[in-house]
Amino acid sequence: MRVVVLYDPGADDWSAADIAGVMKAVDDLGVIFGAMGHQVQRVPVKHDMRWLQTCRRADLVFNLCEGVHGVSQWEEHVVGTLEFAGIPHTGSGLWTVAACRRKAIANAILEKADLPIPLWILAHGKIADDFPLPAIIKPAAEDASAGLDRQSVVADRKMLRTRIAAMTEQFDEVLVQQYVPGREFNVGFVGSRTLPIAEIDFTGMPEGTWPILTYAAKWHVGSAEDLGSRPVCPAQISERLAIRLARTAEAAWRVMQGKGYGRVDLRVDDAGRPWVLEVNPNPDLTDEAGLSRMAQAAGWEYPELVRRIAEVALRDAQGAKAARELLAPPRRSRSARTV
Ligand SMILES: Nc1ncnc2c1ncn2[C@@H]1O[C@H](COP(=O)(O)OP(=O)(O)O)[C@@H](O)[C@H]1O
Ligand SMILES: [Mg+2]
Repeated sequence: MRVVVLYDPGADDWSAADIAGVMKAVDDLGVIFGAMGHQVQRVPVKHDMRWLQTCRRADLVFNLCEGVHGVSQWEEHVVGTLEFAGIPHTGSGLWTVAACRRKAIANAILEKADLPIPLWILAHGKIADDFPLPAIIKPAAEDASAGLDRQSVVADRKMLRTRIAAMTEQFDEVLVQQYVPGREFNVGFVGSRTLPIAEIDFTGMPEGTWPILTYAAKWHVGSAEDLGSRPVCPAQISERLAIRLARTAEAAWRVMQGKGYGRVDLRVDDAGRPWVLEVNPNPDLTDEAGLSRMAQAAGWEYPELVRRIAEVALRDAQGAKAARELLAPPRRSRSARTV
């Protein structure tokens, strides 16, 4: 089988570490599919569309693009192109990726479907005086905690105005949302399977900082916010809460028509009620990221997670036969070639 691993080669402002991070994920997949006896091609996505010709010849495209040229909005264009060309690919479809990247759109759809979404508003003009505080101010169409730092949560009106003004200078659309105090959880999916729930333990956060996943917490390894936000999987929670979280996350995933693999971020308030913060189609899939940790808790080593994501994509696109071929143990002649 021919497998293409599709990735974003990055932009001029990417550091060597940024590029190395992407290439590590790409190479890990290359090794995993190579060991299964498949031909692997690593293909960078550029606007020249040459990548599409290579993808057309593939049996499966493993899509690692979170954008093109570092621009997150192009992520959905890559997915849409694969979908339109009828090329089997991992992860969610165009509609899901596009809708979920716009937090206001996703929130509106989820709310309409009766899912619990903390009160929110787009920061056009003046925010009503009775908008509940504290509130968090986040970019409305970014992910990976872009634009989130220790000043993102505000507890008074003056700070709210100042922060909105600063954020609207940087981002086209800014969302203000009621801050939900309480524990934070992630629910992951692979195909129709819900993985063991993870919790972000914020007990180590520096004094006087809000317990949220800031950009530094996610990306600056060793920073106070990284060290203060420790993922725990499986989460130490009651069966009852686990079921409640899973049901809420599954409903959100269904409403957003998620496919392949994904992750829903939630918080639980003092009354034990879950609130959906975000639905993430095609979340970070590197071995160090949340989904891999959840898969580990389910007893899957990283190659098994990757294989299952591929299997789900192939089953969807071509039915069980192609998926069985992927699952088959490597043939001797083929594996000899890849060693
Ligand atoms: N309404 C909220 N209440 C409390 N914390 C929030 C809220 N919204 C976001 N956060 C915090 O900010 C982090 C990032 O927000 P999220 O909406 O998941 O965006 P991103 O796409 O950047 O991951 C969350 O993991 C959580 O810690
Ligand atoms: Mg998130």
